[in-house]
Amino acid sequence: MTAALIDGKAEAGLLLDEITHAVENLRAKGQRIPGLAVILVGEDPASQIYVRKKREDCAQVGFTSQAHLLSAQTTQHELLDLIDRLNADDTVDGILVQLPVPQHIDTETVIERISPTKDVDGFHPYNVGRLSLRLPTLRPCTPYGIIHLLDRAGETYKGRHATVVGASNIVGRPMALELLLAGATVTICHRFTRNLRPYVESADILVVGVGKRGIVNSDWIKPGATVIDVGMHRDKSGRVTGDLEFATARERAGKITPVPGGVGPMTRAMLLQNTLSAYTRRQR
Ligand code: GUN
Repeated sequence: MTAALIDGKAEAGLLLDEITHAVENLRAKGQRIPGLAVILVGEDPASQIYVRKKREDCAQVGFTSQAHLLSAQTTQHELLDLIDRLNADDTVDGILVQLPVPQHIDTETVIERISPTKDVDGFHPYNVGRLSLRLPTLRPCTPYGIIHLLDRAGETYKGRHATVVGASNIVGRPMALELLLAGATVTICHRFTRNLRPYVESADILVVGVGKRGIVNSDWIKPGATVIDVGMHRDKSGRVTGDLEFATARERAGKITPVPGGVGPMTRAMLLQNTLSAYTRRQR
């Protein structure tokens, strides 16, 4: 069997078209345009690329955006001050602090300072709590994007076993919650899981968000399973790959996300969707 590809780039493109259309409607009615503020502390090259792309995405759909590029020596106090100003700025609907922040800054304190109404990452404890209670909220972009891709691929959840490998705040934990809320029976595997193989072998839906290659063996994939690879790595020749060995995984899976062109573009699209949702809720 060769798995069908779940085309994240195409799905993201469709969503961006819808958001662009919504912005055009606002503009035609003379209404304010949604705006995103992105904060980067330090000069990590990968983070600089992510921030630049997020701003390009905003420009593509017609959102306003501001980038606050702060030196690595910025104090926590200065960062919290900036967040306070952005919380009070009515032209800003979403605030995103690119992670990781330098070690002298406490990530949780920073996340909690962002107004939950502008928390377009969906990382604020208030929004995480609302998600766990199945209440409408701003949802973490990567898992939200994956659920969107699964829904669009016709996936069903009730009576199905979903295994999530990785338990990070950004990917694994909220992913497991999303799948649980959708009706799946969910297993979360993490660094203390002794024997990963049986959990992978019994998964109808497998989400791998480890951040390392070679932890999950593609030979373990249940034939016909739906496989989502959240990893993103650049090998020595410059080729971008996921956490899984793709060729083998594709031979076993029924549907699979490629890397690149799977989860990544959908995550970026969900940030724009969240910014539009935050805008809409704030207008009420
Ligand atoms: N760093 C890696 N992924 C993310 C993300 O989704 N949001 C933020 N703010 N930082 C990140």
